[in-house]
Parts: sequence; structure tokens; C-alpha cells
Amino acid sequence: MRDLTDVVAIVTGGGSGLGLASARALAAAGARVAALDLHPGRAEPGILPIACNVAEEDSVVAALHRTEATLGIARILINCAGIAGSMRLVGREGPVDMAQFERVIRINLLGTVSVMTKAAARMMALDPLDPDGERGVIINTASITAYEGQIGQGAYVASKGAIAAMTLQAAREFATKGLRVLAIAPGLFQTPMAADVPAGVREAITSDAIFPRRFGEPADFADLCLSMIRNPMLNGEVIRLDAGVRLRAR
Ligand SMILES: NC(=O)c1ccc[n+]([C@@H]2O[C@H](COP(=O)([O-])OP(=O)(O)OC[C@H]3O[C@@H](n4cnc5c(N)ncnc54)[C@H](O)[C@@H]3O)[C@@H](O)[C@H]2O)c1
Repeated sequence: MRDLTDVVAIVTGGGSGLGLASARALAAAGARVAALDLHPGRAEPGILPIACNVAEEDSVVAALHRTEATLGIARILINCAGIAGSMRLVGREGPVDMAQFERVIRINLLGTVSVMTKAAARMMALDPLDPDGERGVIINTASITAYEGQIGQGAYVASKGAIAAMTLQAAREFATKGLRVLAIAPGLFQTPMAADVPAGVREAITSDAIFPRRFGEPADFADLCLSMIRNPMLNGEVIRLDAGVRLRAR
């Protein structure tokens, strides 16, 4: 999808961090963006904030209806909504609290699946855009913790590992309908979520990077989203965006 002029896009987690940067980049490229978030930001040129809890099906359905009624059916979906959530599998107080573990899975994994499938079903009804028959592009947000899970990150790792694993599977399943499915596995990015990472861990991640040794900027993430959307040969792939870092155990 090369020309994004007036193309409708949905960005979950669009009120902050990586999602907000992606929404802004899409709007700057001419797309009409619905930014779905538990805490939606303020309207900006090209961005319509919509309150949505991705973990609640009714809320997702209502937000997609509102997007459609106001902007039209989305051909682009970027799923960024997510939470951190540190907990050891077995800590000082015993085995992990399953309700806490489940909350992370519910928001990060089930929220992504819920929005992806509901948005994909709508995209499949649109006319193809080009001779390839492409109808739309879906980008989910995994994490490099999907590959190098750190101590105390079990629920988060499980949620992101599943998102990474589903990328190829969903791409295969949606291929006959002209949808591409991709994921980005970010390293450490400068967002409000990263502010909760202990300073020592942040320092280790940036100093272990190959190059450059710094936080990723949300705009770096947004740039990759636009490249993924524009390049029709990218499909079924999870791309690490991490300056080459490999995470330590802690
Ligand atoms: N920042 C990083 O270093 C980093 C690294 C790897 C992966 N990620 C992933 O990137 C994505 C974006 O994170 P970020 O760093 O921009 O964090 P962020 O906290 O700035 O943004 C996340 C957004 O998701 C929203 N959200 C949370 N729960 C929600 C729910 N139930 N329904 C709807 N919206 C909800 C929040 O309100 C927030 O606006 C997340 O999936 C995160 O796991 C971030």
C-alpha cells in the first residue's frame, strides 16, 4: 500500500508512546486514523481518539463501529495497546498469582487477537487496492522478550511470544483475502512504559546494544510501521527493532 492518502487506519494504544507516534506518522502520510486507547489523547489533525478497552469485546466492537461510522473501514491496523507487568513465576510469596498473570495475557494477547480478528473480518470485505489483490495490512507489537525472556517477566514474555508466533499463522490464514500480517519486536523504547523499567535494567539494555547505544525513539518504530505498510513483499515476519541488543537474564 504505497499511497496512504485518505486510507483509514486503526492504532490501538494510540494515546501514548509507540502507538501515538505511529498514529501521527500515518496521519502525516495522509491517512485518517482512529486512535483507540483506554486513555485516548486529544484529537489532532488526522487523528480521531476513541475510548476503548481492548480486553473487553463489547468495547472493541463499539470502537470499530465508531471508526467505521466516522472514518470508514480500516485497511491498516497497528496494535500497540499493552501493559508491562513484572512477576516471578515463583516468588517469595509462592507461585505466581494467576489473576495477575491472566490480566497481562488478557490485555496484551487477547486484546491484540480481538482487535486483529474483528478488524480483519471487516477489511476482507473491502475491494482490493492493487494488482496483487492487497486489501490491508496488520502490524502487531511483540517484544524482544519473546526471544530472550528475562527473570520476572513470565506473563509479559508469554503474551509477546504468542503474538510473535501468531504472525506467520495469521498471515497464512488471511492471505487468500489479501491481508498481510507482520509484527515488530521492539527493544527498549523511550515511552511512559519504559519509565517503569528499573534504571539498572534500562542501563544494561542500552549499553549491551550493538549500535546505536540508546533508547529507541517512538518515531523509529513509526518509521518501520510505514515501511511495512508500503512494502508489499513483507509478510508473516516479526522484525526486531533493537539496535542488535540481546537481553541478559535480568
Ligand atoms: N517501550 C518499550 O520499550 C517497549 C518494548 C517492547 C514492546 N513494547 C510494546 O509496545 C506497545 C506500546 O507500548 P509503549 O511503550 O508505547 O507504552 P505506553 O504505556 O506509552 O502505551 C501503551 C498504551 O496502551 C494503552 N492501553 C493499555 N491497556 C489498554 C487496554 N486494555 N485497552 C486499550 N488501551 C490500553 C495505554 O493506555 C497506553 O496509552 C506495548 O504493547 C508494549 O508491550 C514496548
